[in-house]
Amino acid sequence: MKKLIVANLKMNFTKEVMANYLNQIQNRISDFYEVVICPSFIYLYMVKNTNYKLGAQNVFYVKEGAYTGEIAPLQLKSMGVSYVIVGHSERRLYLEENDFMIAKKIKAVLATNLTPILCVGETLTERELRKTMSVLKNQLLLALKDLTVEEVNDVIIAYEPVWAVGSGQTPSIMEIKETISYIEKVIKQKYGCSIKVLYGGSVNQDNIKTILELKMVSGLLIGGAALDANVFIKMLDG
Ligand code: PGA
Repeated sequence: MKKLIVANLKMNFTKEVMANYLNQIQNRISDFYEVVICPSFIYLYMVKNTNYKLGAQNVFYVKEGAYTGEIAPLQLKSMGVSYVIVGHSERRLYLEENDFMIAKKIKAVLATNLTPILCVGETLTERELRKTMSVLKNQLLLALKDLTVEEVNDVIIAYEPVWAVGSGQTPSIMEIKETISYIEKVIKQKYGCSIKVLYGGSVNQDNIKTILELKMVSGLLIGGAALDANVFIKMLDG
């Protein structure tokens, strides 16, 4: 099965820059990976015309109605979206998104037959206090609490240590292995099934190979390094 490479473009690019970026990466479909581009909502239609899979960076949990500024799962689906990032650490931090909202978003995304990518990860303080595993367990169990085993099967987890996101720092390979094994264990114990886990946080040209070589890593969530079309293309070349 092809590993998943998810480019999270975050709140970057004007329309012209986005068009130029897509031109540069166009037709560079990877033989090795399934590549998903997650642009700002307003540019979803632009990615729809490419060969890449389309992802959203966020979603709201209600079907439709008077929720100014929000985007519903069905609206995303109608734009060709297949994957939705939920609970990214930047949203938890700056938008005060909490586990309660995240659980509702995951449920709503699944109900629309889209694939949620649930981000979990510890802060530096939590890691230093040796709380990584308990923080992850808490985030996972709260986010998935309303789901059936079948639904959990369709969720993708992204392990993104908060301190590694955008910082240029990454955990050691040993730490990534330990943490992902732990995530798998929590899911297995609670739901009796296995789950796909991506790694995210300062993935770049130098470390991509080593991280992707890990069997337990089903793919990557890439922020900063994906913003430079040339760098991103090289990373996709395997
Ligand atoms: P980064 O971002 O690659 O810039 O660390 C990853 C992410 O936020 O998903």
